[in-house]
Amino acid sequence: MSRTLALITGASSGIGAAYARLLADDHDVVLVARRADRLSALADELRAAGATAEVLPADLGTSEGLGAVTDRLAVGDVRLLISNAGAGGYAPLADVGPDEITRLLALNATAPIQLVRAALPGMLAAGDGTIVTVASLLAFSAGQANPRMPSRTLYAAAKAATVAFTRTLAHELADTGIRTQVVCPGLVATEFNGGAAHDVPTAMAAEGVARASLAGLRLGETVCVPGLEDRTAALDALVAAETALLSGGNRPTPATRYTRPPTGRPQGAAG
Ligand SMILES: NC(=O)c1ccc[n+]([C@@H]2O[C@H](COP(=O)([O-])OP(=O)(O)OC[C@H]3O[C@@H](n4cnc5c(N)ncnc54)[C@H](OP(=O)(O)O)[C@@H]3O)[C@@H](O)[C@H]2O)c1
Repeated sequence: MSRTLALITGASSGIGAAYARLLADDHDVVLVARRADRLSALADELRAAGATAEVLPADLGTSEGLGAVTDRLAVGDVRLLISNAGAGGYAPLADVGPDEITRLLALNATAPIQLVRAALPGMLAAGDGTIVTVASLLAFSAGQANPRMPSRTLYAAAKAATVAFTRTLAHELADTGIRTQVVCPGLVATEFNGGAAHDVPTAMAAEGVARASLAGLRLGETVCVPGLEDRTAALDALVAAETALLSGGNRPTPATRYTRPPTGRPQGAAG
């Protein structure tokens, strides 16, 4: 049986490790994360199951770490890229330092795009490849004012970027033989956010997310929402709302509410 080479980021725990274990039957793997000891232990486990496993320790929040992984992808032999590493960094924006903003956006938004860019030439040459990026349901949370949700401005922005990236790339790669998928889990019981979801009864297990994603690939899903029953209706409604914004807003003149004479003080004007 021929084996496919998969590179999985964030493989040292949670969803990434679950992907690696599920794939090991018929894939060889390159495992990426910062904790080399965890990666080595998982690689030993997968080798015992018959897979070839490379360990590539790297911090994807830094240009050096990202460069090590893009160099590996540039070899051109990876046919399945699972870009899963991520961190929440939940905090009000004013409490996040500029360097931390750079690091979080690099990890959650820039790295997944750079990894795809590095993997594409090899996949295009082979006419075969699969790209999975793990985002989050919080990518769709910008309209939610619920104060019980985490302070997530940066995280939601980064994950929304990966959703838009993957959905748009899917059109670009149509007819190339390369499949793309963005995965949008809700709460998952992993080490994420200090393991906060472990005691939440509605949290999914990491293996459930990875299984749904791999099944979603077989179903041809570009957007995989592991917990969502009526996926088609929700995505159709999303596309309909986007179409209304895009076609309705793309006009040569401002909307009438902007051209009426002012009737009072603008909101927020000082007295
Ligand atoms: N758990 C949830 O509730 C949830 C919900 C929606 C989406 N997600 C997304 O799911 C993905 C996987 O998270 P998880 O739930 O499996 O959490 P996790 O158990 O904390 O795993 C996160 C993985 O990312 C790696 N990682 C973190 N920072 C990194 C860095 N700077 N460079 C390289 N690797 C790094 C971690 O490894 P090292 O620490 O060894 O580097 C670890 O392997 C993330 O993208 C997350 O945003 C999670």
